[in-house]
Amino acid sequence: MNQFETKYRSTGLPFVTLKLAQTLDGNIATCTGDSKWITSKASRVRGHQLRAEADAILVGRGTVMADDPELSVRYVNGCSPTKIVLDSQLKIGLNAKIFSGAPLIIATAEEVCKKQIKERKKKGAQIWQLPILNGQINLKAVLQKAAQMGLQYILIEGGSRVAASALRLGLVDRIAAFVAPKILGAGIPAIGSLDIVSITDAIALENVKVESIDDDFLFTARVKKSSKNG
Ligand SMILES: NC(=O)c1ccc[n+]([C@@H]2O[C@H](COP(=O)([O-])OP(=O)(O)OC[C@H]3O[C@@H](n4cnc5c(N)ncnc54)[C@H](OP(=O)(O)O)[C@@H]3O)[C@@H](O)[C@H]2O)c1
Repeated sequence: MNQFETKYRSTGLPFVTLKLAQTLDGNIATCTGDSKWITSKASRVRGHQLRAEADAILVGRGTVMADDPELSVRYVNGCSPTKIVLDSQLKIGLNAKIFSGAPLIIATAEEVCKKQIKERKKKGAQIWQLPILNGQINLKAVLQKAAQMGLQYILIEGGSRVAASALRLGLVDRIAAFVAPKILGAGIPAIGSLDIVSITDAIALENVKVESIDDDFLFTARVKKSSKNG
């Protein structure tokens, strides 16, 4: 059994890698939301390799509305995984690129309007209506449902708020952070607020590996499950 299957069988949840493409000072976009491109082409090719290994890619509405990404595998051989988007009020427009290509799942709230659901289903999307937790879609419920569908390995690609939600709930197993030698100052942080005030409460990482890719670094590490998040 590989690590994805072990996690899936023992917890009923998929194995989760959180992927970030960030500047040296920890930003994933400028203060206006511009993020193209922080890392080098070679890092982006490597990012597509990570995509090709996953059963699904998960992002938030903010990322889709800022970047209009395809979320497909293009730079390497391999299948494009299923896409899962968190959009509690179905605000993403029907012309967004995510509606083409690999299967799309939109996780939304229980009380959204039937007409909006119908329009998105007509575009081929699957709609999951799920409970709200602290004003947002319950991410654990999304992952549980994904696991029930046989999606054993999920790559979370952001943005800042989704990364924070996943870490807060202890749902992340591994971080893959591409770090570019760029500085943006006050931009969009790689990970939104975790309300951590003491260093002793920091989420600890272990099994750290650092790889050099052009002028970037790829930093991979496991989230220590003994730390307070999990
Ligand atoms: N460089 C990189 O690696 C990278 C990767 C991705 C994105 N980005 C950048 O990040 C920015 C977007 O980040 P963001 O923080 O604004 O948006 P985000 O994290 O992509 O999406 C956040 C939105 O998702 C919805 N959502 C529903 N359930 C959620 C949950 N449980 N947890 C968190 N969000 C949930 C909420 O909108 P509703 O309330 O409407 O549902 C929330 O406002 C863009 O500028 C993009 O370019 C950079």
